[in-house]
This record gives sequence, C-alpha cells and structure tokens, in this order.
Amino acid sequence: MTKDQFETTLIHGAFDVDGGTGALTAPIYQTTTYQQRELGVVQQFDYSRSGNPTRLILENQIALLEEGNFGYAFASGMAAITAVFFLFSSGDEILVPSDLYGGSLRLLDNYFQNFGITWCIADTTDPSALEKSFSAKTKAVLLETPTNPTLRVSDIAEVSRLSHEHGALVIADNTFLSPYLQRPLTLGADIVLHSATKYIGGHNDVLAGLVALRSPELADRILMIQRSSGGVLGPFDSYLLLRGLKTLAVRMDRETESATAIARWLEGHAGVDRVFYPGLESDSGYAIQAKQATGAGGLLSFELNESYSMSAFFSAMRVITLAESLGSVESMACHPATMSHASLSPEMRAKMGISDRLVRLAIGLEGLSSLKEDLEGAFSAAKTSRN
Ligand SMILES: Cc1ncc(COP(=O)(O)O)c(C=O)c1O
Repeated sequence: MTKDQFETTLIHGAFDVDGGTGALTAPIYQTTTYQQRELGVVQQFDYSRSGNPTRLILENQIALLEEGNFGYAFASGMAAITAVFFLFSSGDEILVPSDLYGGSLRLLDNYFQNFGITWCIADTTDPSALEKSFSAKTKAVLLETPTNPTLRVSDIAEVSRLSHEHGALVIADNTFLSPYLQRPLTLGADIVLHSATKYIGGHNDVLAGLVALRSPELADRILMIQRSSGGVLGPFDSYLLLRGLKTLAVRMDRETESATAIARWLEGHAGVDRVFYPGLESDSGYAIQAKQATGAGGLLSFELNESYSMSAFFSAMRVITLAESLGSVESMACHPATMSHASLSPEMRAKMGISDRLVRLAIGLEGLSSLKEDLEGAFSAAKTSRN
C-alpha cells in the first residue's frame, strides 16, 4: 500500500459514512447484549464479549492498516500479548530479544512458564546468532524493532525467513512505529501486535491492545481465545482509537521529523555521550531501518555525560513531562534505570545496554524550538548544579 493509499485508508478505511444516519464518525454501540430475533438462529452479534459493532470497525481497520486479513482489539497491550501467548502449549519455547518490553517478559517468566511454556533470549539483531538459538522446542520468535529504550533494529524479513525454516511463528510487536511507518506482515511476520495505548491512540487517554494477522487458521484461534479469556476493548475505547487513528500519519510524520532533528542536535551536544536513534546515519540499525520502514519514529534515547546531574536534568524540564509512556501528542522523558526497567537487576540492565546515564525521550507535537529550548535549559541546570 502506498503512503497516499494508507493516508486515505486512515480516514475512509473500515468506516466511511453511516448508511442509516449519514454520520461521518463511527457509532458507539454501548451495549452488552443484542435482541435475538428468532430462537436458534445465529446472528452476527449476540453478546459484546464475542462481538461489538464499534469494536468490529476498529478490528477491521487495524487489519486493513497492517495489510492483514483479521484484526482483534483488547483492553490493553498486555491483554493482546496474553491472548497471543495462549496460542502456545506446554513444551513450547518462545525466543525473545534481550531488551523485550519488561511487561511481556514478566508475563512469560512469572505465569506462562508455570504452564510449561518457556522463553529464551536470542539476539534477533544478528541472524547468524539467532540461527543458533532455535531448537526443536522453538515455536515462535517475538520481535520488537526498534527495541525500547536502546532502539536496536532487527531485520524482520530475515528473522521471518529463518524462523519459518525452523517452523516457528514470528510475532512482531509494532508498538513503536505503528503501521504507518512499518508493516511487519508484509515482510513475513505472522502476527502483529500493538500496545495501542501508544501511537495508535496517540493522546494518552486510552489503554488498548491490537492484534493483526493474515492466516485464517490463526485468526480462528485468536478469536476463540479473545472470546474465552474476555480481555476485550470496550465500545467507547474502540471509538477513541478510531478517532486517534485518523491523525496517525500527520502525527507520526511530525514526531519523526522533530525526533530526527533533536537526535541530530543531541549528537553534537557536549552533554551527550551517545545517541540511540535508527534515523541517524551513524546508528548501527540505520540501513535495515531504512530498508524496512518509512521512518524511524518519535522515540530516541541518549546517554547524559557524567558531569551533568541526572536529577537536575529531569527536574528542569518544563515542556517535556517526566512520565512512563510514549506515542502521545505530549513529549515525555523517562529514566529507564529507575522507571521502566527498575525491576531488572543492574547486571541485567548492563547486559541490555541500559546504563544509569540513559535518558529516553518520546517526542510529541510541541514546537521543535520549544522542545530544544526545554532540553537546553535542562542541560544548563544539570551542568550548573554539578559545579
Ligand atoms: C512494546 C510494548 N509492548 C506492549 C506494551 C504493553 O502495553 P499496555 O501498557 O497497553 O498494556 C508496552 C507498554 O509500554 C510496550 O511498550
């Protein structure tokens, strides 16, 4: 799908104009149940855990946008991931990247492992290392590309080719780029999932998860898991995602443009030791990122030089908010070592390349000069407070 077609699908895709009323926005069917017109006759909707018309529009829309055939909406990204993990059985193993989202790792380690589904860390950024990680038990590779917070890039097509050779499914968590910038199903992945709480919702006002895929066989299984486990997205939250999606392209274009400008500026800054952003030519993931995505997105990280105070840096920001999430219109900063990755041991963080000096920025829609001024103010305050 071209950029132009994608942008038009965002506005007119799974819902255009309501046939009955002429309304341009999707109706919110705030109902749990539906009248059964005749005893014993199956109808499309009977109970909202199994199906809801507003949720269905969203599910059809994510399927279109990811170039899949089927979509499913869940109450959070974690509910979506849980549903996907329910595809596996005792004795199966899932390969994961070392810097997998901590919530996904906790779910595997604390819960699915108890049911005999094991996980193993593999270097998905290096196909020859990945190749050695497959065993007869491997049933899936869970990919995040780029990863958070060190923005490491994996070659989705190459990982898919290798995984399929070993009979394993590829599950791509596409949260950080959204289907506007990257469509893993078109590169060979089997299942795409999203914390739609981030770029898809885009406004920090809805917690949601989405799954998209192409295989009818997998779709039947996910549908039954969704109905059985019940972590579905409500009608109003489905509507909020449909609304957020309409501006996805313009938001991501602007956030990518600002993040690229900030990453370039930080690269030459005296207060910065290292910048992580796959949109920079100097980044090790640049070539693969450019091959498989149409932009590097709004997320970047950098290491603050030791001569700058970390706490003063965060306290001085006025426009950028100290907060855990990402992908919204508001720019947010986070200190992974004490926030998103605090539950990991210092050794594990070091292995993942997350130093105590790492700062992650999720760039929003404020003016670029305001953002740079805010960061410059933070650098000045952090430098002064050390002297
Ligand atoms: C990559 C990724 N996947 C999944 C999740 C979980 O999503 P949610 O918070 O919507 O449950 C997150 C949350 O930060 C995430 O960053």
